[in-house]
Amino acid sequence: MHVLFGTLHVHSLLEHRRTPLLICPIPTVLKEELCVIFFLSPASQNNFLSAHSARDEAARLEERRGVIEFHVVGNSLNQKPNKKILMWLVGLQNVFSHQLPRMPKEYITRLVFDPKHKTLALIKDGRVIGGICFRMFPSQGFTEIVFCAVTSNEQVKGYGTHLMNHLKEFHIKHDILNFLTYADEYAIGYFKKQGFSKEIKIPKTKYVGYIKDYEGATLMGCELNPQIPYTEFSVIIKKQKEIIKKLIERKQAQIRKVYPGLSCFKDGVRQIPIESIPGIRETGWKQSGKEKSKEPKDSDQLYSTLKSILQQVKVGVSFSFSPWKYFEMISHTEFPY
Ligand code: COA
Repeated sequence: MHVLFGTLHVHSLLEHRRTPLLICPIPTVLKEELCVIFFLSPASQNNFLSAHSARDEAARLEERRGVIEFHVVGNSLNQKPNKKILMWLVGLQNVFSHQLPRMPKEYITRLVFDPKHKTLALIKDGRVIGGICFRMFPSQGFTEIVFCAVTSNEQVKGYGTHLMNHLKEFHIKHDILNFLTYADEYAIGYFKKQGFSKEIKIPKTKYVGYIKDYEGATLMGCELNPQIPYTEFSVIIKKQKEIIKKLIERKQAQIRKVYPGLSCFKDGVRQIPIESIPGIRETGWKQSGKEKSKEPKDSDQLYSTLKSILQQVKVGVSFSFSPWKYFEMISHTEFPY
């Protein structure tokens, strides 16, 4: 039996990158500032990294600069062996064996080299530094994540998050929108941060008998949203936050503006349209068509209601504070004899 190898480039996924949607209309004056935020060069984005940066931001920039690469690799029965891919598969098997010491080495080797399994490999300086081994079940609508690891000295740099985001985009492209995995107690935290939960969305009949059951491990699932460009998601959210912050600052600057008070009332004007109050439009106030048509009826109604209330108050006041009643009250309390 020939042992052959194949590879799929994840970079091609980025060609299908969806345009980020903004959630509010942007005034023309802001467009230049927003362009700067949206199209910062990778170099200037580097300076942008801060304590508040998303976990995967550094990894995303490293990928753009070509420092790291992601490739889906696997053994194949119908392709010629490729030395580079073979080396990567051996490297993956080593990373998994070191990082998952409780898994038998032979078992890891068998699955990594099994043609039905694929592995998303993370390559830095030509060497494998991490990966996710998985098996796709297209007829069942899910993929099982079998092993996931990043080499010790490269952990907590965002590679694990970026790997998972690439795997999500790869699956969206292949129309599989559910991940399942058996996570041990140490891995549950990581998977939760990648959007996995113990609540499994797909029916049991879809995966029972297909997925390997690991004793003492917890089954976790993640439902993918095909609208989300996962590898760009955190940066889109960050940029949207910056845009909203700028819009709020601009609005606040307008609101802080002090307009001269209205003097028309001194000249005997009794009523003015709300929209003629200086500054009211800048606050975002708009009169809806519905309100416009309702207005005369409402003000008539308001007038008659107020008039009747005032009349009742007048009657009540004149009754309860009639001078006779007042004198009666005083004579009984202050001068009882
Ligand atoms: N439990 C809880 N949280 C974990 C975690 C764990 N075991 N491993 C990582 N995290 C957290 C990180 O602190 C980080 O959180 P933050 O964004 O709030 O700071 C987040 O998960 C992702 O960090 P990231 O840097 O993207 O991941 P990584 O490159 O360190 O890779 C693993 C994460 C799990 C792949 C890596 O730690 C590893 O290889 N662990 C050993 C093997 C393993 O347990 N694999 C999982 C089961 S197959």
